[in-house]
Order: sequence, then structure tokens, then C-alpha cells
Amino acid sequence: MTQLPAVDGMLDVRSDRLARVHALADGGTFTELGSQARHHVHAFDMQRKRPHGDGVVTGTARVDNRPVALFAQDPTALGGSLGEIHAGKIARILDHAARARTPVVGLLDSGGARIQEGVAALDGYGQIFRRNVAMSGRVPQISVVLGPCAGGAVYSPALTDIVIMQRNRAHMFVTGPRVVKAVTYEDVSLADLGGADIHATTSGVAHFVADDDQDALDLTRRVLSYLPSSCWHSSPAAPPADALPMPEIPADHRQPYDVRGVIRGIADADSFTELHAAFARNIVVGFARVDGQSVGIIANQPLVLAGCLDIAASEKGARFVRMCDAFGLPLVTLVDVPGFLPGTGQEAGGIIRKGAKLLYAYAEASVPRVTVVLRKAFGGAYIVMNSKSLGADAAFSWPGAELAVMGAEGAVDVIYRRDIIADPDRRDEFIDRYREEAMAPHIPAERLSIDEVITPAETRGVVAATLRSLEGALQLGFRHDNLPQ
Ligand code: HXC
Repeated sequence: MTQLPAVDGMLDVRSDRLARVHALADGGTFTELGSQARHHVHAFDMQRKRPHGDGVVTGTARVDNRPVALFAQDPTALGGSLGEIHAGKIARILDHAARARTPVVGLLDSGGARIQEGVAALDGYGQIFRRNVAMSGRVPQISVVLGPCAGGAVYSPALTDIVIMQRNRAHMFVTGPRVVKAVTYEDVSLADLGGADIHATTSGVAHFVADDDQDALDLTRRVLSYLPSSCWHSSPAAPPADALPMPEIPADHRQPYDVRGVIRGIADADSFTELHAAFARNIVVGFARVDGQSVGIIANQPLVLAGCLDIAASEKGARFVRMCDAFGLPLVTLVDVPGFLPGTGQEAGGIIRKGAKLLYAYAEASVPRVTVVLRKAFGGAYIVMNSKSLGADAAFSWPGAELAVMGAEGAVDVIYRRDIIADPDRRDEFIDRYREEAMAPHIPAERLSIDEVITPAETRGVVAATLRSLEGALQLGFRHDNLPQ
């Protein structure tokens, strides 16, 4: 093979990426693989640009003394773009992680497929995507986006379990502003096209936004601390800690409150880490620990849209439930839901199809599953939110919680329609009757839809004891992938 010359100044520009890798890895544990790899492309005078490592650092390390596989792209080397060798290095480290059953962390900063390498670069992405999918649900895959990323550099993260974006430098788009301008004549900034805020609030691509590189790496460590090395391992335990005091929530079912206070009244202190905090805020999802053990928490949020389920909330919840189930994290579901959000926008947008994703995810989940109904659970949303009928191992409710096909006002307008037309003054009487006969809090427990009515104060203890009693139900092994929703 022809020996291609190195060009002065292009030899080793990897120090910045190595610094990022070392900042994530436990001291002295990073072992680099493929540092001398370089492309052999002649077209477009590429023989003049042959950075060592071909724009990506790959290797293995330990994080909190657990093994991980790592890759970090280098935007100062050919824009971090992905050519055949660059792709081959990432593919090898993914294969290593799959074989060794360790998580993979990718630090991304790349203009996507290396234009000069043409179809070889595209095939490189194909190799990576195929591995991302083959590893899905088997080992955790975390994408940390630290700079502008385009094309394949955003589709690979989309196939992984967690996307963390650095607030100022990270941008993600399928096609960058220059291509957008050329095709649609639209002038758009990097931030408006694919900034961290857009992806955290509107598109739902980003699970977390980090203030800077260090914060992104700290978040990565935190996320890894909840997850097992693979679906064949148990999740790491932490020293147990008491929960915060359970807050009082408004008795009036129409009054909003922040359900995150209830979550903190159940989880070990400081253990709750919310995912997708700014996206589909009507549902809250996050990792936490109960008595030191990792769990996934899903809760309706009465502060936003009264906690109704809609398309975005269903997809957000479904992906989280499937990720927890794939990696053996028990599910704790807190329910306070008036139903699915009604309206033409939701129906035309596909709430039937997309709401079914959450239904499917819960019904499929085989990890221990505990539900607490805080105030109300109506209609399809009651069933979806981890009801006993859908396979919850245990369901509790707080005193006064109402479970019904729908709220009293809507119900009487259906079942007493004729009587109300004949005498509108009787509507309140019918509402009282419906509340008494269909919504009385004792009915669900009598019918075994609820196992036990418990007080807010005892909730943390009951949830912890129930999860302990279910330890034997947690089977290690591959369950399913974590299909992007
Ligand atoms: C080759 C690239 C490159 C690429 C950037 N560079 N992207 N080289 N292939 N894809 C090079 C630039 O030529 C430049 O080289 C250096 O990297 C830095 O790029 P800048 O543009 O100066 O940086 P910045 O202003 O920060 O902008 C970053 C960027 C922009 C927004 C990512 O570079 C950009 O828009 N790139 C193209 C993005 C894109 O459309 N990619 C899609 C690829 S298709 P010099 O020598 O000047 O320093 C794809 C297919 C897979 O990925 C699809 C899967 C479904």
C-alpha cells in the first residue's frame, strides 16, 4: 500500500478530545485503541490531511470503577467528520462493548458523513447504526453532544438511550444551515435549527441540557450510576437514604400542585434525576433510588395541562418505560390523571396510535411495577398508567382517590342526557349520585383494582417494602430493544 505523507500541523490534534475522555474516566483508566489509524484517501487532496486517529479517539475506561467503552470525535480534525476509518474505529469500540457487555459513551462533535469519502462514509454510518440497533436494550448507550452535529452524527444519538446536549456549543440537525439555505432559501441560525433548547423543549431529542462540557460529563456519570452495565447485570446499589417529608397536596382535585414533591417524598434524598424536564411537562419521568436501589419513576404532572396524557407525554412515557424495562429498573408510577387530552389536534395528530405506545410499553414491561393513585385516575388514562389490569404487581391509592370511566360532569351529560334536557335543574343531583355510586373511593379496593388504601405519610415505606418483596421477580437478561419513539 502507498505510504501517504503526514502534513506538518495535522499530526496530533487530539489533545482536546483526550482531555474530555480523561475528564469522564476514572484517573489513569483510559486505554486508547486505534490512535495511529488514518485514512488512505487521495481524492480532493485528502492525502494532505491525515490526522492521527482520523478525528476520533476510541478506547475503554472505568467510570465509578465500572467498565465503559468510549469514543470522542474531534472537530479540529476534518470537522470531526466520519470517513471509513473513523467509522471503523467507532464500530470496533461498539463491538467491544457488545462483547464485554459494557455501556458505551459517545462524545459527539461532527459534521456528519465526510463529504470527500462519498459512499464509503455513508456506509460507515450504516455500520454504526446497525450496531446501535443490535445493542439496543442490551447495553446502555449514551450520546453526549458537545458541538454542532449533522446528518449521521445526529441519527446515531437518536438510536441510543440517552442524549445529553451541551447548552451553548451543541447543535443537532439532519442538514445544516448552509444546506437549508441552498435548498429552501431559508436563513436560519444554528440555535433555531437545532439548538439545545429546541431539542429539550420542542423536538424531545435531548434528555438533558448541560451548562458546559464538565456539566455534561458529570451528568453522564450520574446517568450511568443508575444503570446496569448491561441487561445481564444488576443495576448498581447506592447507600440508602431517607426521603424528604411527603408534602400535602390539595384535596380539591382541580387544584394543581407539583408532583415532583411527591416523588421526593418517596425517593431517597437527592436521588431523583428528571429526564426530558422541559419536554411534555404534563408527565414527569426520571431515575431515582428507593432504599438504595435504582428505579424509574413516571408521574402525571397536574401543574401542566392538568396532568392529561397527550401525544408527546405518551411517547415520552413509553420510551422511558421501555428503557427501564430493558435495563431491569423497577417502575414506580404516580397517578393523578383526568384522562387523555381531548380535541381535533390530538385525534388528527394520532393520539390513538401514539397513546397506544404507552399502553404497549406498560403492558409489555416485566420488571416489578408499583402504582400509587394520588387523587384520581379516569378512563383510558387510568388503565394506561400501570393499572393492575395492565399487569402492575401492586396498586395503592391515597384516601379519597377517585377511579372512574370519566369525571362526574362529563358522565352525567351522557347517561342522564334526556333527564337533564327535561329538567336542567336536576344536573347537580345526578352529579352527586354519580360521585356516590361510581366514584366512591372504597369501590376500587373492594373490587381489587387497588390492593390497599395507604396514607401519604406511609407511602415511601409501602413502596420500598413492595419493591423489596418483588426482588425475585426481577429477571436478568435481554427483554427487548429501546426503539426510538
Ligand atoms: C467533510 C467537513 C464536514 C463534512 C465539516 N467539515 N463538515 N468536512 N465532511 N461533513 C469541515 C469543514 O470543511 C471545515 O474544514 C471544518 O470541518 C470545520 O467546519 P466549519 O463549517 O468551518 O465549522 P462550523 O462553522 O462550526 O460548522 C459546523 C457545521 C458545518 C454546522 C457542522 O460544518 C456543516 O454544516 N457541515 C456540513 C453538515 C452536513 O450537512 N452534513 C451532512 C452530511 S450527510 P476546514 O478545512 O475549513 O477547517 C450525512 C449522511 C448520513 O451525515 C445520513 C444518515 C441518515
